[in-house]
Amino acid sequence: MECERIVIRRGPRSGLPIIVAIHSTALGPALGGCRIKEYQRWEDGLADAQRLAAAMTAKCAVAGLDHGGGKTVVVAGPGPAPGPRPDRTAALHDVGDLVEEFGGAYSTGPDVGTGPADMDVIAERTRHVFRGDSSPATATGVMAALRVLGGDSYAVIGLGHVGADVAGRLLAAGHRVLVTDVDERKRELFPAAAWVSPDAILDAEVDVLVPAALGGLLTPATVRRLRCRAIAGPANNQLDDPATADLLHERGIVWAPDHVVSAGGVLYATETDLHGASPTAATARVEKIGETLQAILDRAAGEGTTPLRAAEALAAARFTRPR
Ligand SMILES: NC(=O)c1ccc[n+]([C@@H]2O[C@H](COP(=O)([O-])OP(=O)(O)OC[C@H]3O[C@@H](n4cnc5c(N)ncnc54)[C@H](O)[C@@H]3O)[C@@H](O)[C@H]2O)c1
Repeated sequence: MECERIVIRRGPRSGLPIIVAIHSTALGPALGGCRIKEYQRWEDGLADAQRLAAAMTAKCAVAGLDHGGGKTVVVAGPGPAPGPRPDRTAALHDVGDLVEEFGGAYSTGPDVGTGPADMDVIAERTRHVFRGDSSPATATGVMAALRVLGGDSYAVIGLGHVGADVAGRLLAAGHRVLVTDVDERKRELFPAAAWVSPDAILDAEVDVLVPAALGGLLTPATVRRLRCRAIAGPANNQLDDPATADLLHERGIVWAPDHVVSAGGVLYATETDLHGASPTAATARVEKIGETLQAILDRAAGEGTTPLRAAEALAAARFTRPR
């Protein structure tokens, strides 16, 4: 998880700790979103930035992108997160200035706690920022992964930007769909889908579980309860620990690694914003997530290993091959 470079700075405008962690530029300039989040201590934000930057390196490598991983974390607490204005603007301008200092070796984008409007503010200080909403492309990538796994019934956990999009597409395709969210108001989104409580959905007898909320869903305790045959969703860091991938394997549940499934947003953004691709060409690139996942599952089956290990091997190979 060692990072190539980490800059920690108290934002001159906001007074908040701003952290940029560059995990790797071995394959090319680093990419990774900007997270604004409360942490008990700034060191916790630093640990998060390092972990998330490393995950971005793996995501880019396995997606075939000539980019590495980075992350920005704005430590917004403890205490109230930066208010609507002007504190938030001050923090975002601090981020923009810091990103600019990397001179293009790192670009940021939306993440947990930030959205496209925040990126517009960061863009006032740097051009190395991805603007726009990445969730439709992420949902397209998830659908490509789900097609590889096949199935008629799905349980979608989390009806946010990506989860609601995926649930809508599954329903439109005529599948049986169970949905849940901690926010009960989301119930109204899909009257045609069966609503289940966030806890009970883990016991649902469905073909595929689609984690689309926050990370850490898959633990030894939850894996014991699952009655699906496969899992694929956009939520980052679904496993509480890499060893949980072995538990899923032992139970005969195919787990599509989250960093493979969730790469649609970053693939689309790099193709359109950095390489000038048309929306059609960029979408075709996102669809290739299906091929990548198929290759990973074939390799895992052939070697009698987990999809996680197969994905790690695929990513590792990119660092030893000439670009
Ligand atoms: N948006 C993207 O392009 C993108 C790209 C890659 C990965 N991801 C990951 O995908 C996941 C979803 O992203 P999003 O943009 O849709 O986020 P979002 O914040 O729009 O939606 C998350 C949803 O999950 C719900 N939720 C939170 N905790 C829950 C729980 N315990 N049980 C059920 N529902 C719960 C929230 O109420 C919300 O509706 C996140 O983990 C994110 O990091 C998103």
